[in-house]
Amino acid sequence: MKNSRIVFGIVALFSILNSQFSIGYAQYVPSAENLKARSEFQDKKLGIFLHWGVYAMMGQGEWVMNNRNINYEEYAKMPAGFYPAKYDAEEWVRAFSDAGVKYITITSRHHDGFSMFNSKASEGYNIVEATPFKRDVIKELADACAKYGIMLNFYYSHLDWHRLDYPLGSTGKQLGRPTNQQDWNSYYNFMNAQLTELLTQYGPIGAIWFDGVWDHAGDAVPFNWQLEEQYALIHRLQPACLVGNNHHKNLNPGEDIQIFERDLPGENTAGFSGGMQVSNEVPLESCQTMSDSWGFNITDTHYKSTKELIQMLVHAAGLNANLLLNIGPQSDGQLPATALSRLKEIGEWTSQYGETIYGTRGGLVTPRDWGVTTLKGNKLYVHILKWQDKGLFLPVTDHKLSNAKLFKDGTPLKVVKSKEGYLLELPNIPSDIDTVVEITVD
Ligand code: GLC
Repeated sequence: MKNSRIVFGIVALFSILNSQFSIGYAQYVPSAENLKARSEFQDKKLGIFLHWGVYAMMGQGEWVMNNRNINYEEYAKMPAGFYPAKYDAEEWVRAFSDAGVKYITITSRHHDGFSMFNSKASEGYNIVEATPFKRDVIKELADACAKYGIMLNFYYSHLDWHRLDYPLGSTGKQLGRPTNQQDWNSYYNFMNAQLTELLTQYGPIGAIWFDGVWDHAGDAVPFNWQLEEQYALIHRLQPACLVGNNHHKNLNPGEDIQIFERDLPGENTAGFSGGMQVSNEVPLESCQTMSDSWGFNITDTHYKSTKELIQMLVHAAGLNANLLLNIGPQSDGQLPATALSRLKEIGEWTSQYGETIYGTRGGLVTPRDWGVTTLKGNKLYVHILKWQDKGLFLPVTDHKLSNAKLFKDGTPLKVVKSKEGYLLELPNIPSDIDTVVEITVD
C-alpha cells in the first residue's frame, strides 16, 4: 500500500515535471524578464507592421497566391525576379523613428511560405538563396533597429501554401499541391527550426506574432497545433520575447500579448473579434492597415487620413492598447509615398504630444464618446477628440484634480468641482485632432 503510494507520487511528480518542461506548460508562469518586457512593450504605444514578401511584385496584397489560385510551382518562380534595388533598411527605420514609432513587426514568412530571412531550415526557399538580391533584408533591418533603439518583432505564419508537409486547411486548396506528402511532425519541426533561427540570428526580438491557426478552425476533429511547446521553445530561447497569436480567440497559456485585428479592444466592426474578452492581464495590441491592404496593393489608394490614424493611436492608448499600424513596402524596396507622408505627419504630432501617450496607461475616466484619458505618474491627460461644447465633465470622485492646463501652450483652465466630479472649462470648442488637457492628480 505504502509502496504503491510512493510509486504513484513519483509518477505524478514526473508527469508534472514533464508537462512543465518538455511538453509545454502545466500552468504558464511568465518569467521576471517577460513581465518586465510586457510593461516596456505597453509603454511603446506605436508600432509599424510590415507585410513584405515576393507578392509585392504583383501588387495585389499578400493573399494573391491563394486568391488568384496560382500553382505552387509557378509561384515559386517569383523569387528569381525579386530584386528590391532601393531597399535601405536604415532609411525605413529613420522614417519610422522620426514618426515616433517604437517597434516594428515584419513578416518573416507569410502564408505564401517564402522566407524573407536567411533560413537554412527553408531548404533554399528564402531571400538569400532564391533571389538575385541575395541579401538578408531582416538582418539589415535588425541592425538598423539596433542603431535607432527600435524593438524588432517577427510575424510568423502558422499556415503555409508552399510546403507539401503542411497539412492543408481551409485555404490554399486550388494551388495544385499534392496532398500525399502532408506530415505534421515534419512541418512542426520545420517551424520550430525557423523560430530558432529567428531567435538566434538577429539579437533580442521583442515578440513573435503568430497568424494562421484559423486555417484549421473548421476541422471536424480539433487540430492540435502544439502551441504550448512552441511557445515554451520561444521563451526558452529568449525569455523576454513576447508571444502573440492572431487567432481571434481568448488567450491560450503561454501568450503574452492579446491581439485584435482591425479593431480596438472591445470592438468588433471587422468581424474578427466576436466573443473575445479583453484581457486585463497582458498587453493589448490592435493591428490596423494604413490603406485597406496589408501587403502592397497597387490599386489601393484608400489611405486613412492622418487625423484618423492619430485618433486611432490615441484611442488605443486610452484603452491601454498599442497600435500596430501596417504598411506594405513595394517590390523595389521602398515604402509607398503616401505611407511616408502619413508617417511624417504622425511624427509632427508625436513630437509635440507623444509625452501624453508613451509610457501611459488608460486614465481615470474610461473611454467616452468625446475621447479618452491617459495617466502617467500624477499626470492625467484628457484627450478630447470630438466635442461640441466649451465645457467637459469628468466623472472623477475618488481623486483630487488640480492645475488643469492645455498641454500645447500651458493655458490654465478653470475646473469647477461638484459632487459628481469636475467640469473643465475650455477656451474654445475643441477643434484640434486631439485637444489635450493636462491635469495634476492627487
Ligand atoms: C489576416 C491575414 C493576413 C494578415 C493578418 C494581419 O490574418 O490572413 O494576411 O497578415 O491578418 O493581421
